[in-house]
Amino acid sequence: MQGDLQRILYHESTILSRLDELATQISEDYSDRELTVVAVLNGSLMFMADLLRRIPLPLKLDCLSVASYHGRAETSGEVIFKQIALPDVMDRHVLILDDILDSGHTLAAIRDKLETAKPRSVRVCVLLSKKKRRERHVDADYIGFEIEDEFVVGYGLDFMEQYRNLPYIGVLRADLIALAERRTG
Ligand code: IMP
Ligand code: MG
Repeated sequence: MQGDLQRILYHESTILSRLDELATQISEDYSDRELTVVAVLNGSLMFMADLLRRIPLPLKLDCLSVASYHGRAETSGEVIFKQIALPDVMDRHVLILDDILDSGHTLAAIRDKLETAKPRSVRVCVLLSKKKRRERHVDADYIGFEIEDEFVVGYGLDFMEQYRNLPYIGVLRADLIALAERRTG
């Protein structure tokens, strides 16, 4: 799989030391609040597992699953919730975890949907944030790394459901994206 990458961006050890810092900050901020984490699957799976084990606070965990990409490297703008019931977050302090903030459509839709369940507060934590103009405004309160507008895979992030199991994050070769897009139309 490594041959499919143009370059590695963050090695596993770099990711884990950054998670130490994020976890310390989150633990301080929520030390006197009851925390409910809502993780967005599948992309945030590795991030969630490694981050939450570094947060020594009592917390509740719920997972959501959404589809917005339909397998391509471009966002469609449409966000489909894959479950019928939303997590019960009424009066809770909610921290949404996602792998990456790109156009903003996904997180804006999830935040809006959770707000309807009347949580006490909602914050957003992403492993990666692309430096680009968002199509929808989303404030991420905790960001692992800010990256350029390139397509990345690994450590949970996929391209057409592949590469999630790479233990590091890298930039996918542009020719592979172009090839896959020609094949799927
Ligand atoms: P947004 O709705 O455009 O902000 O996209 C967020 C979702 O798109 C993320 O949860 C990812 O699943 C996917 N995504 C955006 N950029 C990338 C990328 O560079 N690599 C892999 N997935 C991405
Ligand atoms: Mg995703």
